[in-house]
Amino acid sequence: MAGDGSVWRLVGPLAELSQRRCRLLHSSFGRGSDVCLFYLQGRFSAMDARCAHSGGPLCDGDIEEADGVLQVFCPWHDYDFDIQTGKSQTGLQQQVHSVKVEDGNVYVKHASLLSLEPFPPASKS
Ligand code: FES
Repeated sequence: MAGDGSVWRLVGPLAELSQRRCRLLHSSFGRGSDVCLFYLQGRFSAMDARCAHSGGPLCDGDIEEADGVLQVFCPWHDYDFDIQTGKSQTGLQQQVHSVKVEDGNVYVKHASLLSLEPFPPASKS
């Protein structure tokens, strides 16, 4: 999306991130903006980690392939989301994010900083 401040965010080394099918990336904007980074069939993809339905944790969902399409199923109410497009057969649309690999590192295009470790809570002053 143009104009939302999204830039390429370094997430980590390819060698590490290609070890698991799904990783939770913490957002500096807070929990509601966290991202799931998938690595499936040799390809990365990323989508918002909180389900567009009621905020379920998509990183904990089952991943299945049907007719060549990889889908993640939300663990809360079992809605399906296409891993690449974020589309659900329910009509909901999960926000997806571009991913690139460059010089052995993985980058996700996002408006906030992204980290494999949680950000410290914002200080209330
Ligand atoms: S919260 Fe994900 S399907 Fe309801």
